[in-house]
Amino acid sequence: MLLLVCSGFSYAQKKATVESLKQAFEGKFYIGTALNLNQIWERDPAADKLIKSQFNSIVAENSMKSMHLQPQEGKFNFKDADKFVAYGEANNMFLIGHTLIWHSQAPSWFFKNEKGEEVSKEVLIERMRNHITAVVSRYKGRIKGWDVVNEAILDDGSWRKSKFYNIIGEEFIELAFKFAHAADPDAELYYNDYSMALEGRRNSVVKMIKNLKSKGIKISAIGMQGHLSLDFPKVEEFEKSILAFAAEGVKVMITEMDITVLPMPNRNIGAQVESNFAYKKEMNPYEDGLPKDKQTIFEKRYLDFFKLFLKHEDKISRVTVWGVTDADSWRNNWPMPGRTDYALLFDRQYNAKPVVKQIYRFGSSKKKP
Ligand code: XIL
Repeated sequence: MLLLVCSGFSYAQKKATVESLKQAFEGKFYIGTALNLNQIWERDPAADKLIKSQFNSIVAENSMKSMHLQPQEGKFNFKDADKFVAYGEANNMFLIGHTLIWHSQAPSWFFKNEKGEEVSKEVLIERMRNHITAVVSRYKGRIKGWDVVNEAILDDGSWRKSKFYNIIGEEFIELAFKFAHAADPDAELYYNDYSMALEGRRNSVVKMIKNLKSKGIKISAIGMQGHLSLDFPKVEEFEKSILAFAAEGVKVMITEMDITVLPMPNRNIGAQVESNFAYKKEMNPYEDGLPKDKQTIFEKRYLDFFKLFLKHEDKISRVTVWGVTDADSWRNNWPMPGRTDYALLFDRQYNAKPVVKQIYRFGSSKKKP
């Protein structure tokens, strides 16, 4: 009897004390966030407190993209990335490297020779090899997982006609994975993309995994970015993709989650970073606060997705949100600059939104099977 009372007491105590995301999902999946420069350099004390108390995985929002790491050929700038890695290690966090090969935020020299002409396939492959080798080997054993290739497939499942694709062909994907694996054989290697719930992209990603595996090339997980809106995509479609990727024997991660509450100027842009619409006041309806009805839909949406992640916790290794507070979110400026969005879990005053408490409760109540 005494035992029962005691264990009941300690269980209630434990539940009552769950007040962080990382605690709520302990033993299930990592819970991560993306750090901007102020956060990497610890210039934002309130954000710093949230990052350390809530999250156990971090990724640099911009600082490890190729235009920042290698602005000129052979001239690397590792200052911010080194600080990011030191921050993560000091706080025992699972470190993600984002991103090695991406068409966007790549320096223009990468694709041109001294005369300004497009480089040959051989030259571009060597540049890929040099970049990947330098970056991955610098953080060998410290950065645990790399977004090796980002956004190589379009909504309809066809290849994005990026410089990498146009100059090298689809082989650039397997080369990138091989170079990364050679530089750190223990690192996890990922393919990462947006709008992964679309059937076309889902099928092509499955094909990509099959192709890499058939050639014995390591791919550890698929990153589903998770730039969501209040009505897109359907949870069921997102679930189909989790199941399809996991069926190929890789882990699934939600790598850049946010939920915009703002109207989209065009339904079909997914997270195409090049999209850029001129500011329109009528497209920025919540400058003075989010109305209650929208907030309710927003909260339900976050909960529905977290329920889905918990349902598939055996397949999911990490859920990362793309920023700490609403003030940090890229959604305020993409695809239209200067708007006020509410896409993340912590508000502009660094407070957890009410839904976060529900996520704590929900995450910590379901025991791992
Ligand atoms: C975004 C950053 O959040 C912005 O600060 C930057 O201006 C553009 O890139 N997909 C990705 C991320 O893989 O790297 C992008 O991050 C968002 C879409």
